Amino acid sequence: MPSEEDWDEPDPDMMMKSERKHEWISEPKYKRMFEDIEYSLQGVMGKGRFEWVDRRVFDQVFDRSTLLALHKLMQQGEIETIDYPIARGKEAHVFHATSSVGGPLAVKIFHTTNAVFKGLSKYIDGDPRFSGLSRRHRELVNIWVRKEFRNLKRMRKSGLRVPEPLMNLKNVLVMQFIGDEKSASPRLKDVRVENPSEVFQDLLEMAAVIWQECDLVHADFSEYNVLWHEGSPWVIDAGQAVTTRHPSAREFLVRDVTRLTEWYGRQGGDARVADSLVRVLDGPVPDLKSAD
Ligand SMILES: Nc1ncnc2c1ncn2[C@@H]1O[C@H](COP(=O)(O)OP(=O)(O)OP(=O)(O)O)[C@@H](O)[C@H]1O
Ligand SMILES: [Mg+2]
Repeated sequence: MPSEEDWDEPDPDMMMKSERKHEWISEPKYKRMFEDIEYSLQGVMGKGRFEWVDRRVFDQVFDRSTLLALHKLMQQGEIETIDYPIARGKEAHVFHATSSVGGPLAVKIFHTTNAVFKGLSKYIDGDPRFSGLSRRHRELVNIWVRKEFRNLKRMRKSGLRVPEPLMNLKNVLVMQFIGDEKSASPRLKDVRVENPSEVFQDLLEMAAVIWQECDLVHADFSEYNVLWHEGSPWVIDAGQAVTTRHPSAREFLVRDVTRLTEWYGRQGGDARVADSLVRVLDGPVPDLKSAD
């Protein structure tokens, strides 16, 4: 049986692979670029020089093309520093960042590894806005990010509480930070709301505005993708949202409404999916644009 020490030895094979994987960092052009932004990334990478960077985060998130994109955003003054990770999801890491004018930002950096994006094409195939585009993986990720940007923009335009999208470049999405000085706002899943029935009506109203006004369906609307901020629900994570013309749009809507209804049920409420669906499809929607 191997002793404990043996287990702790790093695997030389893996080390060699990982060394080679990062060789590009030492190429003069990338070295300069990385030195340029190293300071701005200290919050997520620790202090000091890049040699000792946390390789796992690095591999998953900060590949060459991502660093180039961040470099550009930093040079353009969109981002001053990336401060700390807020969350790591299946598809992306989200970081708290600071803009050059000093305001807080949320920066969502999508993973560009192949495995993650196998599931995404069903949301893009069949959406007339994305026909004829390249299906190569990295390009698919970039399309995905642009799609989230546009979906958020469209929802924002209808007056919905969603983070304002500010900039997107490659696999990086820069948006309004939802939270306060201390931390990001919690997900609806992680809070107990005082008045579940009011919140449920609010969520259905948001789904109705998304469907009737934005001509979209969120397609991953649940307590996991709603932040509870200053006493109101805010919708996030709109990458997979599709237009109402998408062949599966209604199926996605039924799934969204079912999840919201189930959440309400767990809060002690009682609502039928069918009634909630009718409310979303045909119920009145407020003119939020002029209410602001
Ligand atoms: N604008 C924002 N302000 C504050 N926090 C945010 C913002 N956007 C995202 N987050 C945080 O990051 C988490 C992940 O974001 P999002 O749901 O958009 O990414 P995701 O990769 O799709 O995640 P998952 O796969 O877990 O659904 C959110 O649950 C939330 O906690
Ligand atoms: Mg999410």
